[in-house]
Amino acid sequence: MGKRTAIVAGNWKMNGALGASRDLVVELAAGVGTGGGAEMLLCPPFVYLDAASRWLESTPIALGAQNLASEVDPGAYTGEVSGTMLRDVGCVYVVVGHSERRTLYGESDEQVVAKFRAAQTVGLVPILCVGETLAEREGGRTETVVSRQVNAVLETLGASVLAAAVVAYEPVWAIGTGRTATPDQAQEVHALIRALIAAQDATIAGGLRILYGGSVKAGNAEELFARDDIDGGLVGGASLDVSEFLTIFHAASGQEPAP
Ligand code: 13P
Repeated sequence: MGKRTAIVAGNWKMNGALGASRDLVVELAAGVGTGGGAEMLLCPPFVYLDAASRWLESTPIALGAQNLASEVDPGAYTGEVSGTMLRDVGCVYVVVGHSERRTLYGESDEQVVAKFRAAQTVGLVPILCVGETLAEREGGRTETVVSRQVNAVLETLGASVLAAAVVAYEPVWAIGTGRTATPDQAQEVHALIRALIAAQDATIAGGLRILYGGSVKAGNAEELFARDDIDGGLVGGASLDVSEFLTIFHAASGQEPAP
């Protein structure tokens, strides 16, 4: 790992129930220790954010949301949740452009950029997700697709916005499939993303946290996080299991898990 402080983020997706979520948060808080050299971030479903923020008081664990409205001002947007509301309940981060939002809900690069901008407008740190599908990888289009997704932000908003953002590389074929990118495959794309940004601003590229997501588990986290351009993980399934997630976190923080 380079000089950047790693982030290990749990994206709970549409999982959990009130009691189970509280148990998960309380047990993670007990096991996280002082945090060491990494930040832990939890992204529960919207309806649990307010409670989670109270459960997380006096812990080093940060709170984030999985999505937000692209609109900033309040108004007639039935079913949407604004960045301001997320700030209100204690969120610091918000995931934008997750592949499930792009694929299942048709979010375009333009919408993802609008959400990225909306997040920063209210002081949330966007976690911009990018990644290719299996067909795109097998068709040799990984670089083209990931560059297009990163460039959508770079060309519209400029490199400076990445000083207050995080990027997550999540190859779609590795999400929820148990098929992790090898450390070499992940590192190659992370380096590509960093180089793309460095071409505009080397300092910002050098400080940017780029997380890997896609079947990160206790058993593969350490070798992924050891690579130069991998600054932690965005973890789905394994973030719902206390011992798995703590092991992944400690692989990034360099601390021993609490006994
Ligand atoms: P899994 O860890 O379940 O593969 O999910 C990754 C992911 O999509 C995190 O955002």
